[in-house]
Amino acid sequence: MQYKAIIFDLDGVLVFTDKYHYLAWKKLADKLGIEFTERDNDRLRGVSREESLDIILEKYHGEPISPEKKKEYLEEKNNIYRESLSEMTGKDVSSEVRQTLKKLKEAGYRLAIGSSSKNTAYILERCELTDAFEVVSDGTMITRSKPDPEVFLKAAELLSENPSDCLVVEDADAGVTAAHAAGMDVAAIGTATASGRADYDLDKFEDLYDVLEG
Ligand code: BG6
Ligand code: MG
Repeated sequence: MQYKAIIFDLDGVLVFTDKYHYLAWKKLADKLGIEFTERDNDRLRGVSREESLDIILEKYHGEPISPEKKKEYLEEKNNIYRESLSEMTGKDVSSEVRQTLKKLKEAGYRLAIGSSSKNTAYILERCELTDAFEVVSDGTMITRSKPDPEVFLKAAELLSENPSDCLVVEDADAGVTAAHAAGMDVAAIGTATASGRADYDLDKFEDLYDVLEG
């Protein structure tokens, strides 16, 4: 086996919460009169909540916004986002994802989460995914989000594995950069495949099994 562990990003890889992130930011952007498209949203993939707001505000031309107001906006966005999350159930995880995780575990891979999200534990619980992973490294444990490698290095540390023995699965450009900076190979899915910088590009999630075991 080339890898001992697989570290999965969460939003946009295992579950489609990236859509809920977009809708919540869009609501805030509309209120502030800022143009915000799904394309703009791709820049927020993997990036922390605070940095995401700064990116959105690049297109804001109104009165200066105080740090207190920014905090309010962050809370507002997160409340809208968590309302969507509260509606999620185990059915929001495709059978393709569940089957592939099961097969990988049976093949002997150690499975971990590496996500910038501070809502990771809540999402895993809502989607009945908590037990699928041995280790969770998330936004509550790091000081620098992707493209910094911290979240992936933390996952490797929690697994007690060498970074070079870990493969990352990512939908974000920032995540591909982070994985490589951590000294890990990366399999890209969705948006992240466009750059051609990943070690493997997946058309669909289940292709991961064939890439590793095929
Ligand atoms: C990442 C998402 O997983 O988590 C980003 O791709 C998001 O879009 C980041 O900004 C932080 O999420 P949260 O849940 O802590 O606001
Ligand atoms: Mg993602």
